[in-house]
Amino acid sequence: MLCCLWLVVLVFVSSNGAHAFTANIIAGSSSSGSSSSSNNKFGIGLVSEGNSRQLDLAHQLAGSGGWVLLTLAGIDLSTTGPQPSWVNSIKTLQGLNMNVVLRLSPPWGQSHYRDMSDDANHHNYTSLAAAFVRVVSQLPRSSNAPLWLQIENEPDLCYEWYCGQAGQPLSYTEIASEFAAFYLYVAAAVKAIGDPNLKVGPAPLAPGGALKCGCCGSQSCSGDSPGITGLQFMDAMTAAYPKVWSYADFLATHSYPASGIGYSFNVPFSQAGPGLTYYRLELNHTRPDLPVLITETGWASHTQGLPPCSEDNKAAWTVTAYQQLWLADDRILGVMPFMLQDATWGDKDGYAYVLTNGQQQPVFTQVQALRCQLQIDPSSCP
Ligand SMILES: *[C@@H]1O[C@H](CO)[C@@H](O)[C@H](O)[C@H]1NC(C)=O
Ligand SMILES: *[C@@H]1O[C@H](CO)[C@@H](O)[C@H](O)[C@H]1NC(C)=O
Repeated sequence: MLCCLWLVVLVFVSSNGAHAFTANIIAGSSSSGSSSSSNNKFGIGLVSEGNSRQLDLAHQLAGSGGWVLLTLAGIDLSTTGPQPSWVNSIKTLQGLNMNVVLRLSPPWGQSHYRDMSDDANHHNYTSLAAAFVRVVSQLPRSSNAPLWLQIENEPDLCYEWYCGQAGQPLSYTEIASEFAAFYLYVAAAVKAIGDPNLKVGPAPLAPGGALKCGCCGSQSCSGDSPGITGLQFMDAMTAAYPKVWSYADFLATHSYPASGIGYSFNVPFSQAGPGLTYYRLELNHTRPDLPVLITETGWASHTQGLPPCSEDNKAAWTVTAYQQLWLADDRILGVMPFMLQDATWGDKDGYAYVLTNGQQQPVFTQVQALRCQLQIDPSSCP
């Protein structure tokens, strides 16, 4: 989850990122051209499995054929199957003909999957992969739409791949090789279920990641230090397990608006090209043929550590990003901005599309208006 660390991280990666891009990238984008407005790319992210009111809001916003990311936090070695509320939300979205993307994660605050390996070196995840299969095999599936499974979240941040048991400090290359091993076990086990409508992809990486982690036995350690981009983490995954990307059906990306690669987030659209098009660099570091799901992106109106903006700016910049970038790039299947509704990330930090009191923010009404203007699922329009 986008949160706190990479706001700090961003200062340290400028030597890697500064050369990469200018905002001109949008004007000179390598889009294959045909804007696919018949193909619904509108969407939204939820920070839980959601409730019926939130799923209805997601449908009002994105319409049938649109995309919803659900965060399913609660998988560890003891998990026997999906929680009933997860199953209900997936069935509701499938009934609305929406595309369902699931972030499959450990319980909140328990992102120490490395402790759940079968071996002491944290490269064998047979038992944990079996727990993922117990969940995935019991999820409702639709014969006409894939279920998109994002395995974990931002493991290039220390608190997202931490040592529950204290050990030696970990370099990013070690973490990347452990994460790649974990992903390969889970992806292979999910593919062995034998359903081509189960699509699996590795965790999106934070654009600005950790150079090393203190591994002190908690989520935050004194030895944690920033200093890489997610691209270096990807390269380290490839170096450890060259076949890892052949087990990916899609690229999940957190291409947040930024004027640098891994730093200077939340700037106006006119400066945000390097961050918004970051997925193109990720494709070049993984597999250029992968379809892209943007499972987090967007502006926050007032988050500590980021430049603020008005709710009207946030709405206008998001609409422009759909018009000039996301709808125009055929590599992108769906865009699920961070996030619909939450007391902390929404009301407090300003990422919300809808406040917890039910008030729809300008970004909600203006993105919905854009979709409706484009005649995408008009039956769900006001
Ligand atoms: C991984 O662990 C499982 C379960 O302990 C074991 O059966 C398997 O042989 C191990 N695989 C490797 C490659 O060591
Ligand atoms: C990705 O690689 C292709 C082929 O080498 C190149 O044309 C393109 O500019 C690269 N994209 C980015 C964003 O660097």
